[in-house]
Amino acid sequence: MAPILFGRLSAMAIRFEDVKPKIGARVVWDKREDLFTEEAAAVIRAKVEERTVLVFPQLNLSDEEQVQLTELIGPRQRMHVDKTTGEVLDIYQVTLDAKINPQPEYVLGTFFWHMDGITVDAPPSFATLLSCRRKAPKGGQTEFASTYAAYEGLPEAEKAELEGLRAVHSVKASLSHIADAIPQRDYDAVTKIGLVKEHPIVWTHQSGRKSMVVGTTADHIVGQSVPEGRATLVRLQEWAAQPDYSYRHEWQEGDFVVWDNTGAMHRVIPYDRNSGRMMHRTSIHGHESVA
Ligand SMILES: [Fe+2]
Repeated sequence: MAPILFGRLSAMAIRFEDVKPKIGARVVWDKREDLFTEEAAAVIRAKVEERTVLVFPQLNLSDEEQVQLTELIGPRQRMHVDKTTGEVLDIYQVTLDAKINPQPEYVLGTFFWHMDGITVDAPPSFATLLSCRRKAPKGGQTEFASTYAAYEGLPEAEKAELEGLRAVHSVKASLSHIADAIPQRDYDAVTKIGLVKEHPIVWTHQSGRKSMVVGTTADHIVGQSVPEGRATLVRLQEWAAQPDYSYRHEWQEGDFVVWDNTGAMHRVIPYDRNSGRMMHRTSIHGHESVA
């Protein structure tokens, strides 16, 4: 039976296929334009929250289309400033190519599990959106780990132990793995980024669902010795990264991926800085602080 309302028609023209039992969905569409509607955007947003990562295989978005889709799912977050011109960018180019990215060292931090925007004084982005413009011949896959699924999978006794615990997150902690690779001329400026933020380890979202806030930014646990707290944080990160809760995306050029930054860590498998790998990135504002 044909749906009567155009809005229902366009939403129903998109289907989803689960990638793994606890994480990931592939988007299937009949007509490309069906993705660019308010109804489709609402369905996509709900699916991102439900499945953590959405893959649109070889959608081949132009920058204008990526901005449009980001605004539809929205609200779009414009968070990147061109360091030379001061201009706020619509699209951030994720690359290790020093001709485009004058400080590729920052990108090296993405080789390690993290959540975006966890050390700043604003709610973390709801979602990050990436288009693959050029893939690396070797490496460069992006991995996602659902911190919702990881929390749900913890034994009840461990959930009880985490209740009320808070962790200190810092840019300094997130740079610890790459500090030795930062050139001397940038070292002080980069390592002295003094952003520090305390968050509960268990994030109870407004929806009632719970996730964990872990990753390389997590430095220690408030009220515990540094080694003890750090060991717990590393163990929780390892727990979340196990295959049942995580997904590795093998990029094809043109793929578009959206993930829920509030319920997932992500990282990239190392790739060569001369590989030509180029990702175009946009972000969606978060409306919830970690609580
Ligand atoms: Fe990131």
